[in-house]
Amino acid sequence: MKIQIFDKKFNKNNITTATILFLIKKYKTPFWLYCAENIKNKILQLKEFDIIRFAQKSCSNINILKLMKYEGVKVDAISLGEIERALTAGYNPKNVHDIVFTSDIFDAQTLKRIVELNITVNIGSIDMLHQLGNISTGHNIWLRINPGFGHGHNKKTNTGGETSKHGIWYTDLKKSIYFIKKYNLNLIGIHMHIGSGVNYQHLQKVCNSMLYNVLQPYMPQINIISAGGGLSIPYKKSDQIVNTNHYFQLWNNTRNIINNFFKKKIKLEIEPGRFLVAESGFLICQVCAIKKIKKKRFVIVDAGFNDLIRPVMYGSYHYISAISAKGEDMSNYPKTDTIIAGPLCESGDIFTQLENGEISFFMLPIVNLGDYLVFHDTGAYGASMSSNYNSRPLIPEILIENNIPKIIRRRQKIQELINLELFK
Ligand code: LLP
Repeated sequence: MKIQIFDKKFNKNNITTATILFLIKKYKTPFWLYCAENIKNKILQLKEFDIIRFAQKSCSNINILKLMKYEGVKVDAISLGEIERALTAGYNPKNVHDIVFTSDIFDAQTLKRIVELNITVNIGSIDMLHQLGNISTGHNIWLRINPGFGHGHNKKTNTGGETSKHGIWYTDLKKSIYFIKKYNLNLIGIHMHIGSGVNYQHLQKVCNSMLYNVLQPYMPQINIISAGGGLSIPYKKSDQIVNTNHYFQLWNNTRNIINNFFKKKIKLEIEPGRFLVAESGFLICQVCAIKKIKKKRFVIVDAGFNDLIRPVMYGSYHYISAISAKGEDMSNYPKTDTIIAGPLCESGDIFTQLENGEISFFMLPIVNLGDYLVFHDTGAYGASMSSNYNSRPLIPEILIENNIPKIIRRRQKIQELINLELFK
């Protein structure tokens, strides 16, 4: 029996409840589980783009990065830690497109490493141009433009417009080009990422804005444009599935106009995180307590918002299925309205809540103590946003490829947390 998932075209997770039960017995709950075939499938859907760049903040495990590299996907990095992860996974900064560092700031340590390895930088502020230009002539750079508007599934994930800290404000583009020339930096591309959660109306606006910014007499000959990330996935049955072909066509038309302007072939890049990995991932946990408070049924599990923070941070919805302690898929069991909570000593540690923090309910099969819950679509911004809050160790990550499970991150030991604070 396969675990129940929505009927999402081209996107089946091929994991059986028997496999999940086997992993539970071997590794104990809670843990993250990923399906490699699902990720490969999503990569294939974007093959029309010249470059697919994985936004590794969504899932930065080096084994996932190795899979991406093997499939020909490039990577972005937004911190020194992510640069080191990309290098460990085998990405080579000698290839100008392998790693792009995207940020709005440099700290001294990161800047030093970037110059030492000659890592391509996607510049998000004019200060970065001065800081890099002063010490590394000829450095390959992109400019990240804030086109003056943005869009996101939540206001916290909107990365454009005048309240966003990201990118170079579009009216500062001419000034930026002036400094690029002054420092003899090598501008290879223009990048726009306006937020997470695609909407075709906004997309057309971004394409128009890309044209407005690039087709300027002062613009040097660039080689590439990036559409950023932000492609959404269907978390709910009613959510729209992104038409990747339509998405590509809009950007391809934009690229063709730019080709004509520069009289050369410009590459088209896309930079998704969620689209590539969200649907491949599950969070598996166990039911540890059940409370009835007046008419409300609380099911409390052994994973909390220290593991999966999206519901608490954005009111994000994740579909939840149940597996009995014996390993049966419970999707055909009778269901009831349930509040699903974690173990943290904080009342907001509730997975079923709305954006404003109000409690909501999930129609969950009637589970008993010892049964298991599976949170779906947690491959993006799941493990990578986890913390040690309440002194809870990071949980394992397991990747299934060709039906073979492989542990790709072991469970952190509590002693490892304590050791950070012990001084001899
Ligand atoms: N490129 C840049 C420059 C970004 O800032 C991001 C995401 C992406 C690409 C990838 O966006 P995606 O394709 O994954 O939507 N923690 C939030 C999402 C924050 C995204 C931050 N930047 C969440 O859980 O929904």
